[in-house]
Amino acid sequence: MATRRILVTSALPYANGPLHLGHMVEQIQTDIWVRFQKLRGHECHYVCASDAHGTPIMLKAEQEGISPEALIARVQASHRADSGGFLVGFDNFHTTHSPENRHYTELFYERLLAAGYIARRPIQQAYDPVKNLFLPDRYIKGGCPRCSAPDQYGDSCEACGATYGPTDLKNPVSVLSGATPVTRESEHFFFRLGAFEQMLREWTTSASVQPEIANKLAEWFEQGLQDWDISRDAPYFGFEIPREPGKYFYVWLEAPIGYMASAQDYCNRTGLSFDDFWSAGSTAELHHFIGKDIAYFHTLFWPAMLHGAGYRRPTAVHCHGFLTVNGQKMSKSRGTFIMARTYLEHLDPEYFRYYIAGKLGPAVEDIDLNLEDFVLRVNADLVGKVVNIASRCAGFISKRFDGKLDGADTALVAELTSAADTIAAHYEQREYAKAMRVVMGLADRANQYIDQEKPWQLAKDPAQESRVQAVCSTGIELFRVLMTYLKPVLPAMAARAEDFLQSTLTWDALAAPLGAHTVAAFSPLMNRVDMDKVNAMIEDSKSNAAPAAAPAAAPATPALPIAPEISIDDFAKIDLRVARIAAAAHVDGADKLIQLTLDLGDGERNVFAGIKSAYAPESLVGRLVVVVANLAPRKMRFGVSQGMVLAAGPGGKEIFLLSPDSGAQPGMQVK
Ligand code: 2FM
Ligand code: ZN
Repeated sequence: MATRRILVTSALPYANGPLHLGHMVEQIQTDIWVRFQKLRGHECHYVCASDAHGTPIMLKAEQEGISPEALIARVQASHRADSGGFLVGFDNFHTTHSPENRHYTELFYERLLAAGYIARRPIQQAYDPVKNLFLPDRYIKGGCPRCSAPDQYGDSCEACGATYGPTDLKNPVSVLSGATPVTRESEHFFFRLGAFEQMLREWTTSASVQPEIANKLAEWFEQGLQDWDISRDAPYFGFEIPREPGKYFYVWLEAPIGYMASAQDYCNRTGLSFDDFWSAGSTAELHHFIGKDIAYFHTLFWPAMLHGAGYRRPTAVHCHGFLTVNGQKMSKSRGTFIMARTYLEHLDPEYFRYYIAGKLGPAVEDIDLNLEDFVLRVNADLVGKVVNIASRCAGFISKRFDGKLDGADTALVAELTSAADTIAAHYEQREYAKAMRVVMGLADRANQYIDQEKPWQLAKDPAQESRVQAVCSTGIELFRVLMTYLKPVLPAMAARAEDFLQSTLTWDALAAPLGAHTVAAFSPLMNRVDMDKVNAMIEDSKSNAAPAAAPAAAPATPALPIAPEISIDDFAKIDLRVARIAAAAHVDGADKLIQLTLDLGDGERNVFAGIKSAYAPESLVGRLVVVVANLAPRKMRFGVSQGMVLAAGPGGKEIFLLSPDSGAQPGMQVK
């Protein structure tokens, strides 16, 4: 097997808040892949960094009365500790606020400018006259221009799904100062993405991009590739554009360049050649692991920037879905917005690594952490199956044979090692769930063998002494094979197993049984998960959790005044019905909407609901909701909406669908 040279990244976390379990899913998915490649003997390097620039970080530092540098340093330290706590083995964790990143960002700019890929033109933008800064859309709120719902963000309405510009809002206010924004003109710089259309059409339909993402990109190609605004005006925390005082590179331009900056810093430390991995003719592999929400940046802008600046393009961009907990988006009030640190204070990181591995595949699908299933699966598989094999055999070997193995059933060991290629192919394709299923099937086989041979009964008969040694040696050989397969997922448990086995677990060594070999004394490899600890983590999360991406200085949503009184006759005009969600789908081009097919008992209806920020479509199917059944159909940009589902909450992640208790039937009237 030829040795591959591989550089791997996961998305650079923003240095403005703590990591949560959603971040950890991505880092663990990446880490398993990296550990697998290393276990197979390939040269694989995993780099990451803090995403340290942009308006939210600038404002958060200001709010805390510290410098952005101090904020970044603090958050970066917490990210390092949390990733390390989950056994994520970065080879380098750098920052975009670094000389390496400035160097490459300026180099990209100069090369793209010289090649004619940068345009400049004035644009109109909302400006906060009190804070004296241009306002990103999410820092402006006001009334929806279509339905008048108050307190809507500057890009779309969560109540009716309308999309618009911030200047269309009724009574707009800056969330930073409360002032009414004014419109100001300013010259911006643009990356001419359209110049790369042909190259991108080819690259995005190659094996570099998952089919679901390629389909999505095909729609964007149909709509035409727009110029991308890559500059921001002062005050901004980032890199000033050379020769353009007061103009800064937009954080999303230099964030992916941060992958290179971290690689450069790593090469400086290790003596590796940067060009080997990044030059246009590189034969090394470059893999990016990211969330589906940032696919656009990584599969259009980033390959175009790389190509335009004379570098290689990624071998692959691997997108994963979001993490849901108990079937719903993570929620602070439900205690399921779980910070990485909160988890680590209560539970072993390898429980989560194994559970997530058991759910992960190569598709861009959300994965669910069901907490009851989590406890059952980890206890049944890891403790009940894998650890059980070693613990049932090790005592006999150490007490009766002084730790010496001998006489193992090599045919049975070979049966387990013959699965190595299948398991390797699953890891390689990021089919971790399939790999875990195969491994657990083999663990069942090993346990069946021990159940059949019953060494505890054989041990009662002195004539069976060598048989006891052979059976228990077989069990330990099988355990060694299983732990080798699991090592990318469970590195700490594998290290404990290596101490016990007195042997390093590598893929190459699978084919060579331990044979006549002495193992060390056995000590427990993993404890059972305790549901009480899971519950304690949820309770802590209710008080601790803070959504990482909330705007820095956004004021709390004020309590809404009660609307003017209505008569009972007015209320009677509203026909509220129970409906079952028969299907739920993303709406192409809509950030906030989910398309629901509702079963009202007498047929199906199509309803667009502005709940995407709080729910994954997959988690909604089958759920009962309450719907305004006699609302006049509304023609929206994406189709006709035939009703409205009821939900509470201010918006964002805090949207709570109203659901009747189970037992209610579609079509029942709600009074
Ligand atoms: O979405 C995010 O959290 C970004 N900080 C990811 C950046 S990834 C890369 F482009 F740097
Ligand atoms: Zn509206």
